[in-house]
Amino acid sequence: MESTLRRTVEDDLDDIVTVFIDAFRPSAGWQYAHLHDDDYTNYTWTCTRQFFQGEWESLHRSRTFANVITVPRDGGQFSSGDRAGERVVSFGVWNWMKPQEEAADSSFPFRPHQMHATLGGKCSEHLDVNKTRQADLGQQLSLAVEKYIRNLTEPQLYLNLLATHPDWDGHGFGAEQVEVGLREAARVGMPVTLLASPIGWPLYDSLGFRSLANITHEMFDGLGMLWSEYMRWDEEESGVRSALTVQ
Ligand SMILES: *[C@@H]1O[C@H](CO)[C@@H](O)[C@H](O)[C@H]1NC(C)=O
Ligand SMILES: *[C@@H]1O[C@H](CO)[C@@H](O)[C@H](O)[C@H]1NC(C)=O
Ligand SMILES: *[C@@H]1O[C@H](CO)[C@@H](O)[C@H](O)[C@H]1NC(C)=O
Ligand SMILES: *[C@@H]1O[C@H](CO)[C@@H](O)[C@H](O)[C@H]1NC(C)=O
Repeated sequence: MESTLRRTVEDDLDDIVTVFIDAFRPSAGWQYAHLHDDDYTNYTWTCTRQFFQGEWESLHRSRTFANVITVPRDGGQFSSGDRAGERVVSFGVWNWMKPQEEAADSSFPFRPHQMHATLGGKCSEHLDVNKTRQADLGQQLSLAVEKYIRNLTEPQLYLNLLATHPDWDGHGFGAEQVEVGLREAARVGMPVTLLASPIGWPLYDSLGFRSLANITHEMFDGLGMLWSEYMRWDEEESGVRSALTVQ
């Protein structure tokens, strides 16, 4: 499959929102909170789009980079510079984290799981979710970000968000995105950290990330546990050094 990896531009946001929703909708955490998606499909998309637009406009550009992978939109050929002919099927958002700067700026990095706390207008009604569950989940995830990602003692590169549209699973796009970040981090001698969902964990594990802490969250109504894993990659320990160096 012909594909291109490049930096994200604003015109990519429509596709990115579709990738985000379709990739995360099957996850246990999304299913738990989004009880009313089917009644409000358009609402979910429109409000998520509003959130991403706001984040795009207030992005800390010196401390963030975001990449997309695109394929030809109608199964055709790319013609160079033709953005309308490309479809974004995967995206990754990375943040450079530095101890002093974290202490000084509590709004960084952006928090997709807090989307429902930040939206205004009609989107503040949150018609698509169960607000009790969504708020609790958002708060738990925020605590995990505070504890494992922002409370750092050394600079690191944080993989904030990675998603590939399920229709394009199996092309190695997720691994391609992660490897770009690993090279960036290796170039400046920093570790890479992330909070993996159960869906993402096998990929990171296969790329040499270590699992450092299992963060569990008990759902209401006896529905069991949600979990995520704090993971870290260090070039010298990963065993993928040679693969990264030759490229
Ligand atoms: C869905 O979105 C479109 C385009 O934004 C809008 O015109 C339409 O009214 C929306 N439908 C519903 C049910 O909200
Ligand atoms: C941050 O780290 C310090 C020391 O490493 C620890 O005492 C403190 O409890 C941590 N804070 C959070 C929110 O985890
Ligand atoms: C994290 O804990 C959950 C619940 O105990 C478990 O099901 C899951 O496999 C653990 N994840 C990892 C990566 O060990
Ligand atoms: C929302 O979730 C809470 C906690 O799980 C539950 O008690 C409540 O019944 C749910 N409300 C609706 C309308 O589903």
